[in-house]
Amino acid sequence: MDLLFLEKLLVGLFASVVVAIAVSKIRGRKLRLPPGPLPVPIFGNWLQVGDDLNHRNLAALARKFGEIFLLRMGQRNLVVVSSPPLAREVLHTQGVEFGSRTRNVVFDIFTGKGQDMVFTVYGDHWRKMRRIMTVPFFTNKVVQQYHPGWEAEAAAVVEAVRADTKAATEGVVLRRHLQLMMYNNMYRIMFDRRFESMDDPLFLRLRALNGERSRLAQSFEYNYGDFIPILRPFLRGYLKTCKEVKETRLKLFKDFFLEERKKLASTRPMDSSGLKCAIDHILEAQQKGEINEDNVLYIVENINVAAIETTLWSIEWAIGELVNHPEIQRKLRHELDEVLGPGHQITEPDAHKLPYLQAVIKETLRLRMAIPLLVPHMNLHDAKLSGYDIPAESKILVNAWYLANNPDQWKRPEEFRPERFLEEEKHVEANGNDFRYLPFGVGRRSCPGIILALPILGITIGRLVQNFELLPPPGQDKLDTAEKGGQFSLHILKHSNIVAKPRALEH
Ligand code: HEM
Repeated sequence: MDLLFLEKLLVGLFASVVVAIAVSKIRGRKLRLPPGPLPVPIFGNWLQVGDDLNHRNLAALARKFGEIFLLRMGQRNLVVVSSPPLAREVLHTQGVEFGSRTRNVVFDIFTGKGQDMVFTVYGDHWRKMRRIMTVPFFTNKVVQQYHPGWEAEAAAVVEAVRADTKAATEGVVLRRHLQLMMYNNMYRIMFDRRFESMDDPLFLRLRALNGERSRLAQSFEYNYGDFIPILRPFLRGYLKTCKEVKETRLKLFKDFFLEERKKLASTRPMDSSGLKCAIDHILEAQQKGEINEDNVLYIVENINVAAIETTLWSIEWAIGELVNHPEIQRKLRHELDEVLGPGHQITEPDAHKLPYLQAVIKETLRLRMAIPLLVPHMNLHDAKLSGYDIPAESKILVNAWYLANNPDQWKRPEEFRPERFLEEEKHVEANGNDFRYLPFGVGRRSCPGIILALPILGITIGRLVQNFELLPPPGQDKLDTAEKGGQFSLHILKHSNIVAKPRALEH
C-alpha cells in the first residue's frame, strides 16, 4: 500500500467518523430505530457480532434484543425479524414495501446489477421476469411433462450405486450421484438435455463454475468492502475474480446451451403441442422484445443457483437424518412397501399417497432449512415495522429457521421427528399456510420452485429408501451433521460416505 493511499484512507476514515457521528445524532433525534447492541462509529456493531450472522447466532441475538432488532454493519442497516406476526408483516401485509432485494458489490457483478429475477428490486422488471418464467418453469404442466424424466434420473442413481460394489461395504459419497441427478433434472427442463456421467467435461466445467459462483457470493470474505465503502479498493482482486467467473460462466451458458438450442429450433419446426423446453419459451419472449439477451442469460444463471444446490442440500439433509434415525428410515420404508407394493418404484403421483414420506420431507425442511434466512429482503423507501422506523435500503432478514425451531412455538424442536407433521402440526404445509413454517418463504418473493422441489424430493428420497438400507460408514455409529452456512445458505459441512446396502430386487 503506498503512502499516498494510506494518507487518503486515514483522511477518509476520519471524515467517515465525523459524518457517522453527525448522522447518528440527527437520526437518533428523529428516528425510532429497532433495539440492538450499541453501535460504534464506522464499524457499527460489526466488531461485536462478527461476520458469521448465521441463523443460530441471530436466534441468540433475538432472545436478547427481541423479535425485531437492528444491527449496524458498517454503513449498512440490517434488520432481523424473528416472530410469526412480524414475518407476516414483512412478507405479506407490507409485501410491496419489503419486497425488494439487497444487492452488494458481489451480487451486482453476478446479476448485472439486478438484470435477473431473484436479486432484482420489486417493480416492473421483476414482475415481467417472474411472469415470463412462470409458464416454462413453475406450473403443474411442467411437473407432468418432466416427472418421468426425474424418475429416470433417480433410477439412474439407484443403478449406479448398486453397480458400485464398495457402496454396500465401505460406502459411497451419495452427494456426487445426486448432484449429477439434480443437474440433469433441471437441464432437462431448461434445455431438454442431460449429462451422461460425472466425467462429462461440460458437466465438470459447469459444476466448477457454479461452485465458484456460489463460493464467491456466499463468502463472508468481502463483507468489509461491502460494509465500509472506503475499504472497497482492497476488494479489487476479489471483484476481479468475480467478474472473470461471471463472464466465463455466462459465455458457457451462451455457447454450449443457448446457441445449441437456437440452432436446433431453426432446423426443426417448433412444436406447439407442449414439447417445448423452458428456454424455447424464454427465447420467444426475447423475440417478442419483452426481454433482452442478457436477461435470458440471467434466467439461466438464476435457475442454476436457485434450483440445483438448494434441492440437493435438502436431499442430503434428509438422507443424513434418515441414516442417523434408523427407526424413522424403517418406518418410511415400511410405508413405501405397504402402499406401493413389492416391485413398484415410486413415481410422482404416488408421493401424494405417502403421508409419512411427506412428513419426513417437511421435517427435513424445518430442522435443516436450506435458505434459513430466506433470500434477504429490502425496503426501497423509509418504512415502519412494529412501530419502529426502518431506514430506506435496510437489509431485512426473516429468520425463518428460528420461526420453525423456536421452543416457545414448537414441541421439542431440536428433535428430528416427522410424526409432528402427522400429529400436533398436521395442518402445517410447506407453502406458507402457517407463519411459523416458511422453508420456501411466502408472498410475492416466495420460492416459485416449490412446485418442482417437493416432487423431486419425494421421488429421490423415496427411491433411495426403497432400494437401499442407508447406514453410517464402517466404524461410525452416526453421520457428522455439522452445518456450514453462508450469507444466506445452509448445508451439511461434510459430504459423508454412506453405506448403501441394496435390498432384494423384488422390493
Ligand atoms: C428444496 C429446495 C428449495 C428451497 C428450500 C428453496 C427456498 C427458497 C427461498 C427461501 C426463497 C426466498 C423466499 C423469500 O425471499 O421470501 C427462494 C426463492 C426463489 N427460488 Fe427457491 N427453493 C428451492 C428450490 C427451488 C427450485 C427448484 C427453483 C427453480 C426451479 C427455485 C427458484 C427460486 C426463485 C426463482 C426464487 C426467487 C423468487 C423471487 O425473488 O421472486 N427454488 N427459494
